[in-house]
Amino acid sequence: MNYSLVIHNLLRWVVLLFGVWAVIAALFAVISKREYKNIDNKLSLFFMISCDLQLLMGMILYFTGMWFDRVREGMAEVMKNPGERFFAVEHALMMIIAWMLVHVGRTMVKKADTDVQKHKRTLIYFGIALLIILAMIPWPFRSEIARPLFRI
Ligand code: HEM
Repeated sequence: MNYSLVIHNLLRWVVLLFGVWAVIAALFAVISKREYKNIDNKLSLFFMISCDLQLLMGMILYFTGMWFDRVREGMAEVMKNPGERFFAVEHALMMIIAWMLVHVGRTMVKKADTDVQKHKRTLIYFGIALLIILAMIPWPFRSEIARPLFRI
């Protein structure tokens, strides 16, 4: 059994849980103009840590599996096949961009002067990161790249 793949599959739900939670909390906080609380900071921290772990597992899968070999064998061939292109290029690249947005977002929130600004920055940076993550998950309904919701 490929334990990295099982962890990568299941950890996606942790990433989504904290991501959706943090974004919805920020949305309501912007609307109600409430103060930035310790729980907001904790939520964003847990979202970042889960993304860090997911990136690590993704890297392990990428470099120990067949995807990096495929790219080395010939990028042109990979790009012609939508299924291979997704995992070898699109998924990895876009998820790294989402991960960077989460990190930059946390730094920008720390630098914000007001509480409203902190919530707005959380909403924008985490919101965009979450949209990218949702779009780049190989959901079971996506032909060619479909993967199970739960791998146990
Ligand atoms: C928040 C970030 C990420 C999420 C939510 C995510 C989610 C997923 C999911 C749900 C799968 C399908 C797992 C399965 O087949 O059961 C998958 C596969 C994969 N992911 Fe990610 N991923 C993320 C980031 C990354 C990154 C940054 C990389 C590489 C640098 C990566 C590399 C891979 C690879 C190579 C596979 C296919 C593994 C295989 O079947 O050989 N992922 N990812």
